[in-house]
Amino acid sequence: MDERTSLTVVLAAGEGTRMRSSRPKVLHTMAGRPLIGHVLAAVGQAGGRVAVVIGPGREDVAAAVRRQVPGAEVFVQAERRGTAHAVLAAGDALARPADDILVVFADTPLITTATLERLRGAVAAGAAVAVLGFRPVDPTGYGRLVVENGELRAIREEKDASPAERMLTLCNAGVMAFDGRRAKAILERIGDRNAKSEFYLTDAVEIARAMGSNVVAIETEEDEVRGINTQAQLAEAEAVLQRRLRQQWLDAGVTMVAPETVFLCADTRLAPDVVIEPYVVFGEGVVVEEGAVIRSFSHIEGAHIVRGARVGPFARLRPGADLGEDVHIGNFVEVKAVVIEAGAKANHLAYLGDGRVGEGANIGAGTIFCNYDGVAKHQTEIGKGAFIGSNSSLVAPVTVGAGAYVATGSVITHEVPADALAIARGRQVVKENRASRLLQMKSAGKKKPVHAAD
Ligand code: UD1
Ligand code: CA
Repeated sequence: MDERTSLTVVLAAGEGTRMRSSRPKVLHTMAGRPLIGHVLAAVGQAGGRVAVVIGPGREDVAAAVRRQVPGAEVFVQAERRGTAHAVLAAGDALARPADDILVVFADTPLITTATLERLRGAVAAGAAVAVLGFRPVDPTGYGRLVVENGELRAIREEKDASPAERMLTLCNAGVMAFDGRRAKAILERIGDRNAKSEFYLTDAVEIARAMGSNVVAIETEEDEVRGINTQAQLAEAEAVLQRRLRQQWLDAGVTMVAPETVFLCADTRLAPDVVIEPYVVFGEGVVVEEGAVIRSFSHIEGAHIVRGARVGPFARLRPGADLGEDVHIGNFVEVKAVVIEAGAKANHLAYLGDGRVGEGANIGAGTIFCNYDGVAKHQTEIGKGAFIGSNSSLVAPVTVGAGAYVATGSVITHEVPADALAIARGRQVVKENRASRLLQMKSAGKKKPVHAAD
């Protein structure tokens, strides 16, 4: 079907007041991506031009659209007068020829490219209008598909439906495809004589039939067309998407012991033979290469992890954590914007922020890269094979040369040259038999009367 030209109109002018949130509905996220981003991804894979209809003053939605699809045309529906009215707001995009025109809702984020292709296929086969239907567990609020003798006659909005029509179980998912040559004529005939005094896109079915055109319904699963109107529905859709993403990575050869406890992002990239233990959360921008192991309770975002690396349990990788081959990042270690070269290890309790750790270096427990001076961030460079003793503070900007040795408990403020030993801590003083005397002095002091001024 690639030789056929397509236009997709994404309707996003809804306010979504039932989310009880100051954020516009379509910018709420699922698997780290805004709802409208999921729809645009499915649309993008189907190909063709994209037009998005937003509400007035929604520069934030327009920006999100342009970030993901720079070539998208954005239109403003000045007044919210119904779904057909919203489609016509994209008039300039409709005016240019297309073989088919898809209409999708930005608050229906689980839609797949395959289903959009099925609708386009129905139009290619001669239908003037193809409607996506589904059988929800609870049809309340949805438009009902009125099918007689196997033919789609009409879509009745719940508010306008007769009691008999309300008993129908096949509902309108909201996704429709139009034949590009007939779309405009159909859309322009839609009126607003209904319970809501809105221009209903659903009226297209009866109008197309009256024009003698062919109309078809295509069915899909409820999970693909869940609309998001409330926070609870957002959470349900997230669960559906997480199941999909886990399945996708299991199919690709990733091992997950308890997939239902692993949370993925839409853009997470995993390779075959990656092992993910239970309870791992992936934020945006993570790439994990073949054979890496992510142990339980790790939180990972913006990180690149290569072959043989071991992360966690209880590790936190933040944007710019770049782990080389066989690197080990252990429990309670936080890494941000640090390149860690092959074979280096930080196995316990450390903060590594802004810098580089050379090949095979060993970072002791409790090491801190003191990267922030209250105003700016500075770099810490650790050379190949260096050893950083436990509980050391490296005050950036600072460099530790290759093969250097930093003694435990040091506060390093100056460069440590290659192969040097740096000890930067108070010398130990031992005073024989002084412990009990010290305690006696302290308890005597405690018995003194306490003055109000204290
Ligand atoms: C719509 C359908 C209904 C279907 C349901 C599926 C119509 C008349 N009804 O009802 O048959 O079962 O979706 O979820 O089409 N929008 C605009 N501008 C407007 C009105 C709506 O952009 O003036 C956008 C909304 O942002 C939303 C979409 O269109 O993305 C659907 O609008 P909504 O008001 O949620 O329609 P429903 O009543 O759910
Ligand atoms: Ca809706």
